Amino acid sequence: MQIIKSPKMMQRICQGLKREGKIIGFVPTMGYLHEGHLSLIRIAKRRSDVLVVSIFVNPTQFGPKEDFARYPRDFKRDRFLLEREDCDFVFVPRVKDMYPSGYLTYVNVDKITGKLEGAIRPGHFKGVTTVVAKLFNIVQPDVAVFGQKDAQQAVVLKKMVDDLNYGVKMIVAPTVREKDGLAQSSRNMYLSEEERKQAKVLYQSLQEAKKLIKMGEKSSNKIISRMRDVIKKQPLAEVDYIAITDAQTLEFLNKLKGEVLISLAVRFGKARLIDNIKLKVD
Ligand code: PAJ
Repeated sequence: MQIIKSPKMMQRICQGLKREGKIIGFVPTMGYLHEGHLSLIRIAKRRSDVLVVSIFVNPTQFGPKEDFARYPRDFKRDRFLLEREDCDFVFVPRVKDMYPSGYLTYVNVDKITGKLEGAIRPGHFKGVTTVVAKLFNIVQPDVAVFGQKDAQQAVVLKKMVDDLNYGVKMIVAPTVREKDGLAQSSRNMYLSEEERKQAKVLYQSLQEAKKLIKMGEKSSNKIISRMRDVIKKQPLAEVDYIAITDAQTLEFLNKLKGEVLISLAVRFGKARLIDNIKLKVD
């Protein structure tokens, strides 16, 4: 496994691989890897000749009051895990090489980035699309794998790839969960022991929604109100939002129809957790 820091060097290597006709699989991450990341890596590995994983805590997707500085980092551990997955290249650029002084260019997807996470974290998706566009230009992947855990991110990035004619096959992989249903996340390490116990409520509320829908419930308000009741039982949980939207357009739905995304963000002390499920409703 080779560790590459320089964007220029990474790009040169990938250009060479392309010339040899190799299929490049790519998984962008911010590191502090967990089973969720590793599941994406295994999918990318199966679908490619050469696997590139990037680790870059991208400053442009964090708001001024967000956790960029304290976002967890452990490169030694990440390197060990990636070696075990038989990763070929780890790309770990420095902030000053990705955004040198005088940097001015951003990629922005309209409309769908103003909803859900984007409504609460202004500028977040502009940072995500900018860094992923840059990473795609450097790595030139044939296949890239993202997680359903960040549902809106996956929708936004697919839109960017379509709209800007990136020839990348985008794969969205299912959410990997802990035994009690909590979605794996690097940010779970912010949780105290008691918060961690209560954090399973995100998944429980989504399961409650699924149950109601299976019983024929179509009213978003009713489902959301039941989800709130479930979450209220955990005193340390503070709901940021619960939303039921169309899975593609992310438009709010009053009545459930078609492919539906139920997503939520809940705060526990310093940690802000997100989760979602996607369902087909007739
Ligand atoms: P990060 O949070 O490190 O996540 C990297 C990838 O892992 C994303 O595609 C995310 O959706 C996926 N992922 C996270 N938790 C998961 C889980 N429990 N199950 C399955 N997949 C999971 O998302 C980012 O980094 C950044 O925004 C990035 C795309 C790298 C751009 O900076």
